[in-house]
Amino acid sequence: MENDQPPFARIIEEELIDYRIRSRFYHPDYVKRLGLSGTERVLEFGSGGGCMSRALVRTLSPEGSLSCVEISPYWIEKARRRLKVFSNIKYLQGDITRLPGPENHFDVVIIHFVLHDIESTARIDVVNALAKVLRPEGTLFIREPAKPEHGMPLSEIRSLMQDVGLREIHTGCTRSWQRSWICDGTFKKSW
Ligand SMILES: C[S@@+](CC[C@H](N)C(=O)[O-])C[C@H]1O[C@@H](n2cnc3c(N)ncnc32)[C@H](O)[C@@H]1O
Repeated sequence: MENDQPPFARIIEEELIDYRIRSRFYHPDYVKRLGLSGTERVLEFGSGGGCMSRALVRTLSPEGSLSCVEISPYWIEKARRRLKVFSNIKYLQGDITRLPGPENHFDVVIIHFVLHDIESTARIDVVNALAKVLRPEGTLFIREPAKPEHGMPLSEIRSLMQDVGLREIHTGCTRSWQRSWICDGTFKKSW
């Protein structure tokens, strides 16, 4: 986990590749495919420096809101500075399993390239905490890499979601332009 100042190489990579390039093309395209109406209360888990957050908040109308949960003080501050013009974003720094979250509150939870970075034994508690803050019939979207050396298999995503009682709507894996597999899932809360 990135609790402290990230390595310098990661800071440069995030600024030049993720923020200046990918967040103009890839992230807006991802968000467009989610089909949000714009009025949702969205929680983005592991929001990093705000690349996905920027695409999300631009899709939301003033009635919608975005809550960014991020464990790293460095990245959450970076996101806060980058997105300061948006008044409908809340920033929550900390571990989701310890943060006091409003239960049954969010219409949408987004996990984008985060869960695979969390130790495998801790993943169930994280998913459980996210399922609790999702409202009944709310939707959880997840995208994770599936490389054996850096990623997690779709079967694990499906079983984690099933274990916390989320209903599968859609899952699938595709090959990215970098020729590695990425897996997507859409799940709903029925309880
Ligand atoms: C690869 S980055 C992805 C950032 C963002 N989701 C995106 O796609 O642009 C993963 C982020 O998840 C954060 N993270 C890892 N474990 C976390 C946890 N337990 N709670 C909150 N954030 C976490 C890391 O600090 C990092 O900023």
